[in-house]
Amino acid sequence: MKRKKISLIGGGQIGGNLALLAAQKELGDVLIYDIPNAEGMIKGKALDISQLCPLGGYHSNIIGSSNPEDLIDSDVVIITAGVPRKPGMNREDLLGINIKIITDVAHNVKKYAPNAFVIVLSNPLDAIVYSFYKVSGFDKQKVVGMAGVLDSTRFKTFLAMETGYSVKDVNCMVLGGHGDTMVPILRLATVGGIPVEQLISKDKLDKIVERTRFGGGELVKLFGNGSAYYAPAASAIEMAESYLKDSKRVLPCASLCEGEFNINGYFIGVPSVIGKKGVEKILEFDLLNDEKKALNDTLESVKKTVQETGL
Ligand code: NAD
Ligand code: LAC
Repeated sequence: MKRKKISLIGGGQIGGNLALLAAQKELGDVLIYDIPNAEGMIKGKALDISQLCPLGGYHSNIIGSSNPEDLIDSDVVIITAGVPRKPGMNREDLLGINIKIITDVAHNVKKYAPNAFVIVLSNPLDAIVYSFYKVSGFDKQKVVGMAGVLDSTRFKTFLAMETGYSVKDVNCMVLGGHGDTMVPILRLATVGGIPVEQLISKDKLDKIVERTRFGGGELVKLFGNGSAYYAPAASAIEMAESYLKDSKRVLPCASLCEGEFNINGYFIGVPSVIGKKGVEKILEFDLLNDEKKALNDTLESVKKTVQETGL
């Protein structure tokens, strides 16, 4: 049986961590692809991670390349090609540059990896994954954006920090756009199955929701020259692993809604079943009125950025 091939388009901060995690989880062979100016960096990362593998007994063939033909026969493509934001910027400020990059990337993926499951991270996420979908002509099941898994794991982290209980027993989801209007669904957040609203005061919960919404900006400010990369990489690997192992994970992903949650024609964070076919199903559930309003507000924000793509 052919070994699985995971191609990482963009070998920067997140891309390097994607390669490391994919190798450590032995998801398959790894290609780190980037532009010619970055070829030394990606070949170096590929070699450095290869030299780590014997220490953990990980079997993964890892190469770095700037030749798009090397994308051939990828089973999974994870795209981080694009610039990250700097302090004072919001994700939408990246559209002008990253829309050009994703258009170039989409043509290459369509030509060399037409059967891949594509996970997009580049920001502004909801508009960039939409752009990839439009330019590539891929089936909607095979294109997804990574954002909700990251936003939800931030939410989980803050809830665990507040309670002092294990992160393993915190469950929650963040829906909507990957921006300041994202929608943490507080009502469904639990610790060990117990609703957090019975464990944490409303005032503290409001602060946790706010910190989750602006979790990206908090790290951009701390780093000073880019955005988060460890948790984003691990979040994307969760999605890739569910596809490769047909795990049927239910994960908050930016999937194309065509009527779900009364949303039509936009990629936005919704509970998505990820299996061997890709995004196999979007799970709908009844929203309270305030949740419906918040989802509509975040959709309006996504629509505005998508409109600016001109696609
Ligand atoms: P980075 O600058 O470290 O890496 C980006 C890489 O893309 C660079 O190595 C660059 O050379 C490469 N690149 C540029 N044009 C390319 C092209 N045409 N083909 C292939 N590679 C190309 O940035 P990063 O920190 O890894 O972040 C990457 C993107 O992910 C940014 O847009 C950032 O905003 C976004 N991001 C998204 C999330 C999310 O939750 N969706 C989280 C963090 C970061
Ligand atoms: C950011 C990532 C997390 O821009 O989307 O902060």
